[in-house]
Amino acid sequence: CGIVGYVGRRDAAPILLEGLRRLEYRGYDSAGIGVVRDGRLRIGKRAGRVGQLREALPADLNGNVGIAHTRWATHGAPTDRNAHPHTDAAGDVAIVHNGVLENADELRARLLHEGVDLVSDTDSELLAHLIARAGHGLADAVRAALDEVEGTVGLIAVDRRRPDTLVAARRGSPLVLGIGAGEVLIASDVAAFVRHTQQVVYLDEDEIAVVSPDDYRTFAPGAAPTTRAPVRVAAETGSYELGDHPDFMHKEIREQPAAIARVLAGRLDERAATTRLDGLGLEPRHWQRVRRVTFLGCGSAYYAAEYGAQLVEDLARIPARAEPSSEYRYRNAVVDPDALYVAVSQSGETLDTLAAIRELKRRGAPVVGAVNVVGSSIANECDGGIFLHAGPEQSVAATKSFTNMGLAFALLAVQLGRLRDLSLAQGARLLSGLRRFPDEVEAALKTDDQITELAARFRDCSHMFFVGRVRGWPIAREGAQKLKEVSYVHAEAYPAAELKHGPLALVTPAMPTIAVVPDDELLPKNLATLTEIRSRGGPVVAVTNADLPPDAADEVVRVGRCEPELDPLVLSVPLQLFAYRMARALGREVDRPRNLAKSVTVE
Ligand code: G6P
Repeated sequence: CGIVGYVGRRDAAPILLEGLRRLEYRGYDSAGIGVVRDGRLRIGKRAGRVGQLREALPADLNGNVGIAHTRWATHGAPTDRNAHPHTDAAGDVAIVHNGVLENADELRARLLHEGVDLVSDTDSELLAHLIARAGHGLADAVRAALDEVEGTVGLIAVDRRRPDTLVAARRGSPLVLGIGAGEVLIASDVAAFVRHTQQVVYLDEDEIAVVSPDDYRTFAPGAAPTTRAPVRVAAETGSYELGDHPDFMHKEIREQPAAIARVLAGRLDERAATTRLDGLGLEPRHWQRVRRVTFLGCGSAYYAAEYGAQLVEDLARIPARAEPSSEYRYRNAVVDPDALYVAVSQSGETLDTLAAIRELKRRGAPVVGAVNVVGSSIANECDGGIFLHAGPEQSVAATKSFTNMGLAFALLAVQLGRLRDLSLAQGARLLSGLRRFPDEVEAALKTDDQITELAARFRDCSHMFFVGRVRGWPIAREGAQKLKEVSYVHAEAYPAAELKHGPLALVTPAMPTIAVVPDDELLPKNLATLTEIRSRGGPVVAVTNADLPPDAADEVVRVGRCEPELDPLVLSVPLQLFAYRMARALGREVDRPRNLAKSVTVE
């Protein structure tokens, strides 16, 4: 979910609505805003997108303080009634909440027993009643309510009797203040208000903020004041705008050459043929002690991590693996003090990854991050890390962040390798590949016309296979995931050689295969797989940086070469375009696929 608050001298409603539109990637099944006007709370909320909320708002919603919410339903269906803001029975206090209350059943029973009327099925509504019942002084009441709840909370509360004040609390869900001239904004992400101010204060875990038009105060748990000076947020306002692009996925795919240049900038050490990752804060002797590398992430971050694990094994000869953090956190894994744990996340807020980090740290293991969003929970909780510098990513499907994750791992693998057996010449070869990488991606984007035609040809397919071998395998997995997410076409990824152990039975002329074929030592093996599929009547599209023999595939999408270790990442670009073009051909809403959210801050 995404939340926004405004207190100042301007009309709050338009600023809140605009903020919600910017946060829609966080959830979009219902939305609402609440404004205090003439000492009364006025609320407009409904199921559906932020655009639909705009139409449904009462005309007299003007006031200078307000809160707003865009929802990704967890407790309670996405209905008008379950949309936020929620209020207490008297209509004094209104709240918007991002997170999940784990003891909701118990709290619900307690409040019902006390005679409180609950109007929604949500856990969040309980917070409004708990705050109202705690009495006067909104900050103290929020504190008292938080003492009663377990779970994750990103909260903004307003009391109609104190219409110049908002109270915000962060526990496990992100919150950031935007400090303007005579106004303060609060949101889950700076994207909501970066047009109004770039001076921000990232709240710390368990911090509470009390804000009014000319002042903000922050408090540690237990009400001790904390001192927090604003910092200037790095992203330019323009990076949050669509510009000439039809949607954010298009923009973010196209932006990749520039995003890649940023993740590499200042990190290539030509003289020593190695890389510099100062943010990791590791001394060479620490690096040499690393006996194992474990990458943890969810979704596309997990697939990028699989590619990273292969790079580390390949270049540094250190055992490395990737695991979904959602599994790792519950697995009672053996924690190795000599391992390097790398938490991978675009948003820096994925709850499963955060939980895995906390479990590792509890057991004394240091964890570094590979994170895109500066100031995010994961970035804050890790012991150091590699920022991905992909810029804001707003489409739900990860594209440029995936590519920059892959490159961040290439930087990591080269550095680890150069402290071990990777020779100067090999280091120099990889550095030269990295330097050429933005141009290769720029060239790969030129496949768009061919891919658009392919999408027109395959748009009526219900199922597709994606296959890849070794380095190509995580890329095939990510390609299948991308297609499923944005086009809703069923896609399954298989390691190329596994096809013959079962799924080959599904190959027919109605089941096309997209094959990821890097120009590496496994090319002959991949060609054999293509023949296997085609001889059973399955259409094959090869996405490759190799010169394939004529007739190797029904269609060849050819991109340039970089270095064999990096080439698979270039191949991922046509697969992003394919998912995008399929989604467009099928009329999908590409930036906001059904049932999904970009930042999953719940289990
Ligand atoms: C969600 C998104 C995915 C993303 C995953 C991990 O499920 O829809 O696109 O890959 O979360 O997100 P993170 O922000 O941790 O990279």
